[in-house]
Amino acid sequence: MGRRALGKVDSQIDLTSHLLSGKSLPQPWDQEQVFTASCPLEVEIGSGKGLFLQRQGTALPQKNFLGIEISLKYARFAASRLARAGVANARVVHADARQVFSEIFPDASLAAIHIYFPDPWWKKRHHKRRLLNENFVGQLSRTLISGGYLHFWTDVQETFDAGIAALKTDAQLQGPQEVIPSQAAHDLDYQTHFERRMRLSGKKIFRSEYIRL
Ligand SMILES: C[S@@+](CC[C@H](N)C(=O)[O-])C[C@H]1O[C@@H](n2cnc3c(N)ncnc32)[C@H](O)[C@@H]1O
Repeated sequence: MGRRALGKVDSQIDLTSHLLSGKSLPQPWDQEQVFTASCPLEVEIGSGKGLFLQRQGTALPQKNFLGIEISLKYARFAASRLARAGVANARVVHADARQVFSEIFPDASLAAIHIYFPDPWWKKRHHKRRLLNENFVGQLSRTLISGGYLHFWTDVQETFDAGIAALKTDAQLQGPQEVIPSQAAHDLDYQTHFERRMRLSGKKIFRSEYIRL
């Protein structure tokens, strides 16, 4: 299922507190330079329109949430949503997640990693672009704290199977555990926009959860 046209970002909204560039991330990593306080940090890879960051940031003020989004258009859109809603503990960084993981996050620095509906890259010659390969799985495992969670959901069975196979290569990641979704209580009561679209159109969703030993 393709993506719909994105609404315009209101030019009156100040994005400076919520939108970061990959180059502006502190090296060495210092969470307090990005957020106002150092808290358990959860990272969403490919944050799209930012529904997850807004909902979780609002519901869990004792945690920090960082979305990483490679498309500037979507990173700006998500940041504007956070700024408008005044979510103080969530940010979006415009960057390639692979680079942020390999260059910025230290070992055992993340409480959870969320990957929802990653781009499937259908064509065989594009499979190497898929996010979940053995090398990146090693980065996920390295950066999670012991007892930290990895969440991986998709509507594409092939993406799911390939992701699960890649995740199996890391002995420190225990899973997959199945995730049972709850009934949506209102129109935006979904983990992400893609989850909302898939559920409303009746598509099957494959959900998995791992814990870092
Ligand atoms: C299919 S969309 C899903 C968006 C959102 N997770 C959701 O479920 O609604 C995948 C998103 O991942 C982003 N993305 C793809 N590769 C990425 C990468 N290497 N680093 C960061 N974001 C990436 C895309 O730009 C896109 O916004």
